Amino acid sequence: MTRPPWGERSEGPHVAEEAFHKAERGPAGRPPGERFGVYVHIPFCSKRCDYCAFATWTDRHHLHAEYIAACRAELTAADLVPATSVFVGGGTPSLIEPLLLTGLLADVRRAPGAEVTVECNPDNVSLALMRTYRDAGVNRISLGVQSTVPHVLESLGREHDRAAVASAAEAIEAAGFASFNADVIYGAAGESLADWETTLRDVLALAPSPPHISAYGLTVEAGTPLAAQPARHPDDDDQASKYLLAHQMLTDAGLANYEISNWARPGHECRHNALYWDQGNYRGIGCAAHSHADGRRWWNHHTPNRYVDAVGSGATTESGNECLDAETREVEALQLCLRTRHGVPAGALDESDPDLAGLVERQGERLVLTVAGKLLANEVALRLRTSAPTT
Ligand SMILES: C[S@@+](CC[C@H](N)C(=O)[O-])C[C@H]1O[C@@H](n2cnc3c(N)ncnc32)[C@H](O)[C@@H]1O
Ligand code: SF4
Repeated sequence: MTRPPWGERSEGPHVAEEAFHKAERGPAGRPPGERFGVYVHIPFCSKRCDYCAFATWTDRHHLHAEYIAACRAELTAADLVPATSVFVGGGTPSLIEPLLLTGLLADVRRAPGAEVTVECNPDNVSLALMRTYRDAGVNRISLGVQSTVPHVLESLGREHDRAAVASAAEAIEAAGFASFNADVIYGAAGESLADWETTLRDVLALAPSPPHISAYGLTVEAGTPLAAQPARHPDDDDQASKYLLAHQMLTDAGLANYEISNWARPGHECRHNALYWDQGNYRGIGCAAHSHADGRRWWNHHTPNRYVDAVGSGATTESGNECLDAETREVEALQLCLRTRHGVPAGALDESDPDLAGLVERQGERLVLTVAGKLLANEVALRLRTSAPTT
Protein backbone atom coordinates (compact mmCIF):
# COMPACT_ATOMS: atom_id res chain seq x y z
CA MET A 1 0.00 0.00 0.00
CA THR A 2 1.08 3.58 -0.52
CA ARG A 3 1.99 5.14 2.78
CA PRO A 4 0.36 8.48 3.62
CA PRO A 5 2.49 11.60 3.78
CA TRP A 6 3.03 11.79 7.53
CA GLY A 7 5.80 14.33 7.03
CA GLU A 8 5.34 17.90 5.93
CA ARG A 9 2.60 18.56 3.38
CA SER A 10 2.76 21.28 0.78
CA GLU A 11 -0.95 22.00 0.40
CA GLY A 12 -2.19 25.47 1.28
CA PRO A 13 -4.94 26.24 3.78
CA HIS A 14 -7.74 25.71 1.27
CA VAL A 15 -6.70 22.13 0.50
CA ALA A 16 -6.01 21.48 4.17
CA GLU A 17 -9.49 22.70 5.18
CA GLU A 18 -11.06 20.57 2.45
CA ALA A 19 -9.14 17.53 3.71
CA PHE A 20 -10.37 18.26 7.24
CA HIS A 21 -14.00 18.40 6.19
CA LYS A 22 -13.59 15.19 4.24
CA ALA A 23 -11.96 13.44 7.19
CA GLU A 24 -14.51 14.84 9.65
CA ARG A 25 -17.43 13.75 7.56
CA GLY A 26 -16.07 10.28 7.02
CA PRO A 27 -16.20 8.18 3.90
CA ALA A 28 -17.66 9.90 0.87
CA GLY A 29 -18.16 13.13 2.82
CA ARG A 30 -21.24 11.90 4.68
CA PRO A 31 -23.08 14.42 6.86
CA PRO A 32 -23.52 13.55 10.58
CA GLY A 33 -26.91 11.90 10.12
CA GLU A 34 -25.47 9.34 7.74
CA ARG A 35 -22.48 8.43 9.85
CA PHE A 36 -22.61 5.67 12.40
CA GLY A 37 -19.96 4.69 14.95
CA VAL A 38 -19.35 1.49 16.88
CA TYR A 39 -17.38 1.63 20.13
CA VAL A 40 -16.22 -1.65 21.71
CA HIS A 41 -15.08 -1.47 25.33
CA ILE A 42 -12.32 -3.81 26.57
CA PRO A 43 -12.33 -3.65 30.40
CA PHE A 44 -8.99 -5.29 31.22
CA CYS A 45 -5.59 -3.83 32.18
CA SER A 46 -2.38 -5.39 33.45
CA LYS A 47 -2.05 -2.67 36.10
CA ARG A 48 -4.45 0.02 37.30
CA CYS A 49 -3.10 3.57 36.89
CA ASP A 50 -4.05 5.48 40.02
CA TYR A 51 -5.51 8.45 38.09
CA CYS A 52 -7.79 6.37 35.86
CA ALA A 53 -11.56 6.22 36.35
CA PHE A 54 -12.38 4.14 33.28
CA ALA A 55 -14.26 0.85 33.69
CA THR A 56 -11.35 -1.57 33.77
CA TRP A 57 -10.11 -4.42 35.97
CA THR A 58 -6.79 -6.16 36.60
CA ASP A 59 -8.14 -9.31 38.30
CA ARG A 60 -10.56 -10.66 35.66
CA HIS A 61 -8.30 -11.92 32.89
CA HIS A 62 -9.98 -15.32 33.12
CA LEU A 63 -13.00 -13.61 31.50
CA HIS A 64 -11.32 -12.56 28.22
CA ALA A 65 -12.78 -15.31 26.01
CA GLU A 66 -16.25 -15.21 27.61
CA TYR A 67 -16.31 -11.44 27.43
CA ILE A 68 -15.39 -11.30 23.74
CA ALA A 69 -18.01 -13.97 23.02
CA ALA A 70 -20.60 -11.83 24.84
CA CYS A 71 -19.61 -8.76 22.79
CA ARG A 72 -19.99 -10.78 19.61
CA ALA A 73 -23.43 -11.94 20.74
CA GLU A 74 -24.46 -8.36 21.56
CA LEU A 75 -23.25 -7.22 18.14
CA THR A 76 -25.08 -9.96 16.30
CA ALA A 77 -28.32 -9.32 18.18
CA ALA A 78 -28.05 -5.58 17.52
CA ASP A 79 -27.92 -6.12 13.73
CA LEU A 80 -26.32 -2.73 13.17
CA VAL A 81 -26.05 -0.72 9.98
CA PRO A 82 -22.52 -0.55 8.52
CA ALA A 83 -20.25 1.58 10.68
CA THR A 84 -18.33 4.50 9.21
CA SER A 85 -16.02 4.42 12.24
CA VAL A 86 -15.12 1.72 14.74
CA PHE A 87 -13.15 2.37 17.93
CA VAL A 88 -11.91 -0.43 20.17
CA GLY A 89 -10.96 1.24 23.45
CA GLY A 90 -10.45 0.44 27.08
CA GLY A 91 -8.98 -0.58 29.27
CA THR A 92 -6.28 -2.16 27.19
CA PRO A 93 -7.52 -3.81 23.98
CA SER A 94 -3.96 -4.83 23.06
CA LEU A 95 -3.95 -7.25 26.04
CA ILE A 96 -6.59 -9.44 24.41
CA GLU A 97 -5.42 -12.52 22.54
CA PRO A 98 -5.13 -11.19 18.95
CA LEU A 99 -7.37 -13.76 17.27
CA LEU A 100 -10.13 -13.13 19.84
CA LEU A 101 -10.01 -9.42 19.04
CA THR A 102 -9.89 -9.87 15.27
CA GLY A 103 -12.77 -12.36 15.47
CA LEU A 104 -14.81 -9.68 17.22
CA LEU A 105 -13.82 -7.09 14.63
CA ALA A 106 -14.91 -9.42 11.84
CA ASP A 107 -18.44 -9.22 13.27
CA VAL A 108 -18.62 -5.43 13.01
CA ARG A 109 -20.24 -4.49 9.70
CA ARG A 110 -18.23 -1.66 8.19
CA ALA A 111 -18.96 0.84 5.45
CA PRO A 112 -16.35 1.10 2.69
CA GLY A 113 -13.47 3.29 3.86
CA ALA A 114 -14.47 3.06 7.55
CA GLU A 115 -11.94 4.31 10.10
CA VAL A 116 -11.03 1.43 12.43
CA THR A 117 -8.97 2.31 15.54
CA VAL A 118 -7.55 0.08 18.28
CA GLU A 119 -6.08 1.54 21.49
CA CYS A 120 -2.75 -0.04 22.39
CA ASN A 121 -0.37 0.21 25.33
CA PRO A 122 3.23 0.55 24.07
CA ASP A 123 4.57 -2.50 25.90
CA ASN A 124 2.05 -4.77 24.14
CA VAL A 125 2.93 -3.62 20.61
CA SER A 126 4.92 -5.97 18.37
CA LEU A 127 5.20 -6.12 14.59
CA ALA A 128 3.34 -9.44 14.61
CA LEU A 129 0.42 -7.94 16.60
CA MET A 130 0.27 -4.88 14.35
CA ARG A 131 0.24 -7.06 11.22
CA THR A 132 -2.58 -9.16 12.67
CA TYR A 133 -4.63 -6.00 13.35
CA ARG A 134 -3.80 -4.59 9.93
CA ASP A 135 -4.89 -7.80 8.20
CA ALA A 136 -8.17 -7.59 10.14
CA GLY A 137 -8.90 -4.14 8.66
CA VAL A 138 -7.61 -1.93 11.47
CA ASN A 139 -6.23 1.23 9.87
CA ARG A 140 -5.50 3.45 12.88
CA ILE A 141 -3.64 2.80 16.14
CA SER A 142 -4.00 4.98 19.23
CA LEU A 143 -0.91 4.56 21.39
CA GLY A 144 -0.96 5.41 25.11
CA VAL A 145 2.44 7.10 25.35
CA GLN A 146 1.59 9.53 28.22
CA SER A 147 5.24 10.58 28.75
CA THR A 148 8.74 9.63 27.70
CA VAL A 149 10.45 10.87 30.89
CA PRO A 150 11.28 7.99 33.28
CA HIS A 151 10.34 9.70 36.56
CA VAL A 152 7.07 11.03 35.06
CA LEU A 153 6.12 7.56 33.78
CA GLU A 154 6.87 6.31 37.27
CA SER A 155 4.78 9.05 38.85
CA LEU A 156 1.89 8.08 36.54
CA GLY A 157 2.42 4.41 37.48
CA ARG A 158 3.01 3.35 33.88
CA GLU A 159 4.73 0.07 33.05
CA HIS A 160 6.42 1.02 29.74
CA ASP A 161 9.56 3.04 29.01
CA ARG A 162 10.69 5.34 26.25
CA ALA A 163 12.30 2.47 24.29
CA ALA A 164 8.94 0.66 24.17
CA VAL A 165 7.33 3.79 22.69
CA ALA A 166 10.01 4.01 19.96
CA SER A 167 9.74 0.36 19.00
CA ALA A 168 5.92 0.54 19.03
CA ALA A 169 6.05 3.45 16.56
CA GLU A 170 8.40 1.48 14.31
CA ALA A 171 6.08 -1.53 14.37
CA ILE A 172 3.08 0.68 13.57
CA GLU A 173 4.91 2.07 10.56
CA ALA A 174 6.23 -1.28 9.38
CA ALA A 175 2.73 -2.77 9.47
CA GLY A 176 1.50 0.04 7.18
CA PHE A 177 -1.27 1.76 9.17
CA ALA A 178 -2.98 4.68 7.47
CA SER A 179 -2.94 6.76 10.64
CA PHE A 180 -1.59 6.79 14.16
CA ASN A 181 -2.34 8.73 17.35
CA ALA A 182 -0.21 9.24 20.45
CA ASP A 183 -1.92 10.11 23.77
CA VAL A 184 0.16 12.21 26.16
CA ILE A 185 -0.70 13.54 29.64
CA TYR A 186 0.66 16.69 31.30
CA GLY A 187 0.55 17.65 34.97
CA ALA A 188 1.78 14.53 36.80
CA ALA A 189 3.35 15.14 40.21
CA GLY A 190 7.04 15.99 39.78
CA GLU A 191 6.77 16.82 36.07
CA SER A 192 8.59 20.08 35.26
CA LEU A 193 7.92 22.23 32.22
CA ALA A 194 11.25 20.94 30.83
CA ASP A 195 10.06 17.33 31.33
CA TRP A 196 6.90 18.10 29.40
CA GLU A 197 8.91 19.73 26.63
CA THR A 198 11.07 16.57 26.47
CA THR A 199 7.97 14.40 26.09
CA LEU A 200 6.60 16.59 23.29
CA ARG A 201 9.98 16.68 21.51
CA ASP A 202 10.44 12.92 21.84
CA VAL A 203 6.94 12.18 20.56
CA LEU A 204 7.31 14.52 17.59
CA ALA A 205 10.73 12.98 16.85
CA LEU A 206 9.40 9.42 16.77
CA ALA A 207 10.03 7.60 13.52
CA PRO A 208 7.43 7.97 12.20
CA SER A 209 6.19 11.19 13.81
CA PRO A 210 2.53 10.67 14.83
CA PRO A 211 0.15 12.51 12.48
CA HIS A 212 -2.31 12.87 15.40
CA ILE A 213 -1.57 13.75 19.03
CA SER A 214 -4.05 13.99 21.92
CA ALA A 215 -2.65 15.93 24.88
CA TYR A 216 -4.70 15.71 28.06
CA GLY A 217 -4.25 17.64 31.27
CA LEU A 218 -4.14 15.13 34.12
CA THR A 219 -7.65 15.16 35.61
CA VAL A 220 -8.34 14.25 39.21
CA GLU A 221 -11.25 11.83 38.93
CA ALA A 222 -13.45 11.26 41.98
CA GLY A 223 -12.93 7.92 43.66
CA THR A 224 -9.45 7.28 42.24
CA PRO A 225 -6.41 6.80 44.51
CA LEU A 226 -5.04 10.05 43.06
CA ALA A 227 -8.11 11.93 44.34
CA ALA A 228 -7.18 10.96 47.91
CA GLN A 229 -3.67 12.45 47.61
CA PRO A 230 -4.03 16.24 47.25
CA ALA A 231 -0.25 16.73 47.36
CA ARG A 232 -0.06 15.04 43.96
CA HIS A 233 -2.85 17.04 42.33
CA PRO A 234 -1.90 19.15 39.32
CA ASP A 235 -1.60 22.90 39.63
CA ASP A 236 -3.85 25.00 37.33
CA ASP A 237 -1.17 27.52 36.38
CA ASP A 238 1.37 24.78 35.67
CA GLN A 239 -1.15 22.96 33.47
CA ALA A 240 -1.97 26.19 31.62
CA SER A 241 1.75 26.74 30.85
CA LYS A 242 2.03 23.16 29.65
CA TYR A 243 -1.04 23.50 27.42
CA LEU A 244 0.41 26.65 25.84
CA LEU A 245 3.75 24.90 25.27
CA ALA A 246 2.01 21.92 23.65
CA HIS A 247 -0.05 24.23 21.47
CA GLN A 248 3.05 26.07 20.29
CA MET A 249 5.19 22.99 19.65
CA LEU A 250 2.49 20.92 17.98
CA THR A 251 1.23 23.68 15.70
CA ASP A 252 4.84 24.61 14.83
CA ALA A 253 5.31 20.97 13.84
CA GLY A 254 2.38 21.20 11.39
CA LEU A 255 -0.39 19.62 13.49
CA ALA A 256 -3.51 21.78 13.62
CA ASN A 257 -5.47 22.07 16.88
CA TYR A 258 -8.89 20.92 15.63
CA GLU A 259 -10.34 20.35 19.12
CA ILE A 260 -9.01 21.65 22.44
CA SER A 261 -7.05 18.48 23.29
CA ASN A 262 -6.45 17.18 19.77
CA TRP A 263 -3.93 18.10 17.07
CA ALA A 264 -3.61 16.49 13.63
CA ARG A 265 -1.99 16.81 10.26
CA PRO A 266 -4.54 17.50 7.51
CA GLY A 267 -6.62 14.41 6.79
CA HIS A 268 -5.66 12.64 10.04
CA GLU A 269 -8.41 14.05 12.29
CA CYS A 270 -10.20 11.27 14.19
CA ARG A 271 -13.56 10.67 12.51
CA HIS A 272 -14.88 8.64 15.41
CA ASN A 273 -14.38 11.49 17.86
CA ALA A 274 -15.81 13.95 15.34
CA LEU A 275 -18.98 11.83 15.35
CA TYR A 276 -19.29 12.26 19.14
CA TRP A 277 -18.69 16.01 18.86
CA ASP A 278 -21.38 16.24 16.13
CA GLN A 279 -23.92 14.34 18.31
CA GLY A 280 -23.97 11.55 15.74
CA ASN A 281 -25.42 8.10 16.36
CA TYR A 282 -23.20 5.39 17.76
CA ARG A 283 -23.54 2.03 19.45
CA GLY A 284 -21.41 0.99 22.41
CA ILE A 285 -20.69 -2.72 22.76
CA GLY A 286 -19.43 -4.28 25.99
CA CYS A 287 -19.65 -3.40 29.66
CA ALA A 288 -20.03 0.28 30.62
CA ALA A 289 -20.30 1.21 26.93
CA HIS A 290 -22.56 4.15 26.07
CA SER A 291 -24.79 4.43 22.99
CA HIS A 292 -26.70 7.26 21.34
CA ALA A 293 -29.56 7.26 18.83
CA ASP A 294 -31.28 10.55 17.93
CA GLY A 295 -31.39 11.99 21.44
CA ARG A 296 -31.76 8.76 23.38
CA ARG A 297 -28.69 7.69 25.30
CA TRP A 298 -28.19 4.42 27.15
CA TRP A 299 -25.39 2.53 28.82
CA ASN A 300 -24.58 -1.10 29.55
CA HIS A 301 -23.98 -2.83 32.89
CA HIS A 302 -20.78 -1.55 34.46
CA THR A 303 -18.87 -4.74 35.31
CA PRO A 304 -17.76 -7.39 32.82
CA ASN A 305 -19.30 -10.09 35.06
CA ARG A 306 -22.79 -8.59 35.05
CA TYR A 307 -22.52 -7.86 31.36
CA VAL A 308 -21.46 -11.45 30.48
CA ASP A 309 -24.24 -12.84 32.70
CA ALA A 310 -26.87 -10.60 31.08
CA VAL A 311 -25.86 -11.64 27.56
CA GLY A 312 -25.68 -15.30 28.60
CA SER A 313 -29.19 -15.28 30.06
CA GLY A 314 -30.73 -13.35 27.19
CA ALA A 315 -31.48 -10.36 29.46
CA THR A 316 -30.96 -6.78 28.38
CA THR A 317 -27.41 -5.43 28.69
CA GLU A 318 -28.83 -1.94 29.29
CA SER A 319 -28.39 -0.58 32.79
CA GLY A 320 -29.77 2.93 32.34
CA ASN A 321 -30.91 5.49 29.79
CA GLU A 322 -31.97 9.08 29.29
CA CYS A 323 -33.83 10.99 26.60
CA LEU A 324 -32.57 14.45 25.84
CA ASP A 325 -35.07 17.20 25.10
CA ALA A 326 -34.45 19.59 22.22
CA GLU A 327 -33.06 22.33 24.43
CA THR A 328 -30.58 20.05 26.21
CA ARG A 329 -29.39 18.74 22.84
CA GLU A 330 -28.96 22.27 21.59
CA VAL A 331 -26.92 23.30 24.64
CA GLU A 332 -24.73 20.21 24.33
CA ALA A 333 -24.27 20.81 20.59
CA LEU A 334 -23.03 24.33 21.27
CA GLN A 335 -20.73 23.19 24.09
CA LEU A 336 -19.19 20.53 21.86
CA CYS A 337 -18.85 22.85 18.83
CA LEU A 338 -17.20 25.50 20.99
CA ARG A 339 -14.34 23.10 21.73
CA THR A 340 -13.65 22.52 18.03
CA ARG A 341 -11.98 24.78 15.52
CA HIS A 342 -15.38 25.42 13.90
CA GLY A 343 -16.56 27.35 16.97
CA VAL A 344 -20.21 28.38 17.41
CA PRO A 345 -22.60 30.58 15.39
CA ALA A 346 -21.93 34.24 16.21
CA GLY A 347 -25.33 34.63 17.91
CA ALA A 348 -24.52 31.97 20.49
CA LEU A 349 -22.27 34.36 22.47
CA ASP A 350 -22.53 38.05 23.30
CA GLU A 351 -19.43 39.44 21.59
CA SER A 352 -19.73 42.71 23.51
CA ASP A 353 -19.46 40.90 26.88
CA PRO A 354 -16.20 42.26 28.38
CA ASP A 355 -15.64 38.89 30.09
CA LEU A 356 -15.18 37.34 26.65
CA ALA A 357 -12.59 39.87 25.45
CA GLY A 358 -9.59 38.02 24.03
CA LEU A 359 -11.22 34.63 24.56
CA VAL A 360 -13.16 34.31 21.29
CA GLU A 361 -12.56 35.67 17.82
CA ARG A 362 -14.82 36.15 14.81
CA GLN A 363 -14.24 33.93 11.81
CA GLY A 364 -16.96 34.86 9.30
CA GLU A 365 -20.28 34.02 10.93
CA ARG A 366 -18.65 31.92 13.67
CA LEU A 367 -17.02 32.67 17.00
CA VAL A 368 -13.98 30.52 17.68
CA LEU A 369 -11.95 30.16 20.89
CA THR A 370 -8.58 31.93 20.89
CA VAL A 371 -5.65 30.12 22.52
CA ALA A 372 -6.40 32.06 25.74
CA GLY A 373 -10.06 31.05 25.35
CA LYS A 374 -9.10 27.37 25.10
CA LEU A 375 -7.65 27.62 28.61
CA LEU A 376 -10.98 29.00 29.86
CA ALA A 377 -13.34 27.02 27.64
CA ASN A 378 -15.61 25.98 30.53
CA GLU A 379 -16.09 29.61 31.61
CA VAL A 380 -16.85 30.64 28.00
CA ALA A 381 -19.31 27.73 27.69
CA LEU A 382 -21.26 29.09 30.70
CA ARG A 383 -22.04 32.17 28.59
CA LEU A 384 -23.48 30.26 25.61
CA ARG A 385 -26.99 31.33 24.59
CA THR A 386 -29.37 28.76 23.15
CA SER A 387 -31.89 29.17 20.33
CA ALA A 388 -29.05 29.97 17.95
CA PRO A 389 -28.61 27.61 15.00
CA THR A 390 -25.75 25.15 15.62
CA THR A 391 -24.70 24.70 12.00
C1 LIG B 1 -8.76 4.96 29.01
S1 LIG B 1 -7.17 5.18 28.39
C2 LIG B 1 -7.01 3.77 27.40
C3 LIG B 1 -5.67 3.67 26.71
C4 LIG B 1 -4.59 2.87 27.39
N1 LIG B 1 -5.08 1.94 28.34
C5 LIG B 1 -3.60 3.80 28.08
O1 LIG B 1 -3.86 4.17 29.22
O2 LIG B 1 -2.59 4.07 27.49
C6 LIG B 1 -7.35 6.48 27.17
C7 LIG B 1 -6.56 7.71 27.47
O3 LIG B 1 -7.19 8.45 28.47
C8 LIG B 1 -6.25 9.30 29.06
N2 LIG B 1 -6.58 9.38 30.49
C9 LIG B 1 -7.04 8.40 31.29
N3 LIG B 1 -7.29 8.89 32.54
C10 LIG B 1 -6.95 10.19 32.52
C11 LIG B 1 -6.96 11.23 33.51
N4 LIG B 1 -7.38 11.03 34.76
N5 LIG B 1 -6.55 12.47 33.14
C12 LIG B 1 -6.15 12.71 31.87
N6 LIG B 1 -6.11 11.76 30.90
C13 LIG B 1 -6.51 10.51 31.22
C14 LIG B 1 -4.87 8.73 28.77
O4 LIG B 1 -4.12 9.63 27.99
C15 LIG B 1 -5.17 7.47 27.99
O5 LIG B 1 -4.27 7.25 26.94
S1 SF4 C 1 -5.04 4.68 31.97
FE1 SF4 C 1 -5.13 2.99 30.49
S2 SF4 C 1 -3.66 1.45 31.28
FE2 SF4 C 1 -4.09 2.84 32.96
S3 SF4 C 1 -5.76 1.85 34.12
FE3 SF4 C 1 -6.70 3.34 32.68
S4 SF4 C 1 -7.18 2.16 30.87
FE4 SF4 C 1 -5.68 0.93 32.08
